[in-house]
Amino acid sequence: MERTLSIVKPDGVKKNVIGEVISRFEKSGFKVVAIKMLALSRQEAEGFYIVHKDRPFYGSLTTFMSDGPIVAMVLEGDGVIDKVRTIMGATNYKDAAPGTIRADFATDIERNVVHGSDSAASATFEIPYFFSALELFQS
Ligand code: RTP
Ligand code: MG
Repeated sequence: MERTLSIVKPDGVKKNVIGEVISRFEKSGFKVVAIKMLALSRQEAEGFYIVHKDRPFYGSLTTFMSDGPIVAMVLEGDGVIDKVRTIMGATNYKDAAPGTIRADFATDIERNVVHGSDSAASATFEIPYFFSALELFQS
């Protein structure tokens, strides 16, 4: 069964929408098979977003992602990687489709509430970044 890594980002936790985000995933039929609240250090945020290390927004992004607690989770279901990206909406909330998480709750291009793996290869890197095999359950 396909799995993806999602994060309620620090702005999402501060905006009090942890439950709202999880609820949207559950109502779409996906199962939470691992979940934890934690705070990333700057170095840990840099490691997670290493794919963006040469982008102009890397410094700002990793400062933001280490600015407060996050909720990391693994979701499971058919087509979950692409479907979670659809539920999240476009990176820039101004381009996000109505009814998506980012259209409803994001406040700028960076503070966009939620992360989701963008491919199977990304999920394979991102899931074990947060969860050991012992912390992953079957749905
Ligand atoms: P994510 O990885 O967090 O799920 O977001 P994404 O795929 O939609 O977007 P991505 O291109 O991977 O960018 C990662 C995060 O960096 C911030 N960002 N800032 N200032 C900017 O131009 C800019 N562009 C991206 C956002 O927080 C974005 O989600
Ligand atoms: Mg991305």
